Formats: sequence, structure tokens, C-alpha cells
Amino acid sequence: MTTRKILIAGNWKMNLNVSEASLLVHGLDKQIANHHSLEIVLGPSFLSLQSLNLEINHTKFKLASQNGYPIDEGHYTGEISFAMQRGLVDYAIIGHSSRRIYFNETLDDVKNKVKAAIRNDIKPILCIGETKQERLDKETKQVLHDQLVSALYDLTAEEVSRVVIAYEPIWAISTFDGEPSNPDDMQRELAYIRKQLADLYGQAVADDTRILYGGTVDDMNATSYLALNDCDGVLVGAASLSIDKFSKIVSKAYDYSLTKGKKDD
Ligand code: PGA
Repeated sequence: MTTRKILIAGNWKMNLNVSEASLLVHGLDKQIANHHSLEIVLGPSFLSLQSLNLEINHTKFKLASQNGYPIDEGHYTGEISFAMQRGLVDYAIIGHSSRRIYFNETLDDVKNKVKAAIRNDIKPILCIGETKQERLDKETKQVLHDQLVSALYDLTAEEVSRVVIAYEPIWAISTFDGEPSNPDDMQRELAYIRKQLADLYGQAVADDTRILYGGTVDDMNATSYLALNDCDGVLVGAASLSIDKFSKIVSKAYDYSLTKGKKDD
């Protein structure tokens, strides 16, 4: 039986000011019970991280940033390094497609950010995924391979097992007017990612590493993704801004964790 704990993460993207973020957290806190069989991660903007760190129930929620600068300190006006986030967040979303597309983040940038996060005791949620054209051209495996291998290039096997991989086909992300995927079709890519991890870092690392699915996940379809063999959780965008939808996703994940044998400890 797998020991991978189901992870439900919300990427709030560039939404909510500090008081709106606080209201969302208080609403979620009321709706969501303490589930030791789940990890629930909230990804607000940089601006809200400090206040939410003081407000959240840390046994229920963990925080993720959405980015970071790969050099720890220096003359980089306006940037926020992973060193500055140390102790404030447990996770950092790295290589999200909106950063790769809108901010021209390269494979090297993503690799340097993953390395910097690990160096600062922050677990990367590394996003990888293909565009619609790449899928049509049957390049999905090549794209996933390149994004995975390059991002993890500098890490030891032990460091890799601290990384969470989020498979997010770009054509299924709501930001890009995505159309939801058919959950059953996604197992092949999730399994491919796990196989790559096994080939590169050994079966034990592949068995330990959590792989999430992301792309128009909501309360209606979350269970179908969680039921996939290699799916260890979901990365949620738009629906993570709704108290009702996100708390329902969490409660469905909890129900599912019981049926899958991942019981509260
Ligand atoms: P979505 O976003 O759930 O709104 O499609 C997912 C993501 O971008 O991580």
C-alpha cells in the first residue's frame, strides 16, 4: 500500500488582496475539518503570505508561494528569493505554465528555482505539461521528459523525493480557456512521469514522490482524478477561490482517502 499522502493544493494566482485572502481562509477553516490523511496547501500571493502565516491553523493548512527568485540575496530590485520565504512557506509552486508562457521562464530558470527552493527547505510543486499543439503533434512524452529531467537535473535522489510533481496539461487549464480533460485519459501521463522518476532515480524515489493532476479540477470531477492509480492529489486554480468548491474538493478527497486505505493516523 502506498504511503503517499494525498495533497490538495490551491493556486490562487494573482487574485485576492490581503483582507480578501483572510476572509477566504476563515471561510475554509469553518468548512474544513482536520484530516491527518490529507495535506491541504494554500497558495496566496506573496503579499498575503505573512498575515496568513499568523492566521492559519497550521495543523490544517500549509502555505505555498507561487514563485521565487533563484538567488538568495542581492541587488535584484523587486524580487523575492526563496531564502526570504524560508520558514514562511512549506511549498513553492514552480514552473507553472502561466510563468513559462507569460514570463518566458526557461527550463534553466525552472531548474534554478527548484534548486533554490530545496536549498532553503521549501518543497517545490513543480508544474509540467504540454500545449494543445504539442499533444496533437504527439510530443507529450518528449515535453514531459524534457521538463522533468531539466528541472531535477541538479538534485540528489533524496532531494527529488521532496519535490511534488504537478502534471498540468496546458490545454486543460481554465486560464487558457482550457477544456477539462477526460480523467481516465490522464493516467497514462501520470504513469509516464512516475516511470521517468523510477528510471532516473530508482523505484523507491518514484514510489515516494507525489504526482498531482491540475487543470480545471473542481468539486464535481476531483474524485475521478484522485481515483487514478498514479494520482496523489490535485492542484486547483479557479475552484480554489471558492470556499464552497474547495472545501467540497477536500471533503471528497478525504472520503476517497478512506476508501483507498489512507486512513487518519
Ligand atoms: P484551473 O487552474 O484549475 O483554473 O484550470 C489550474 C492551474 O493553473 O494550476
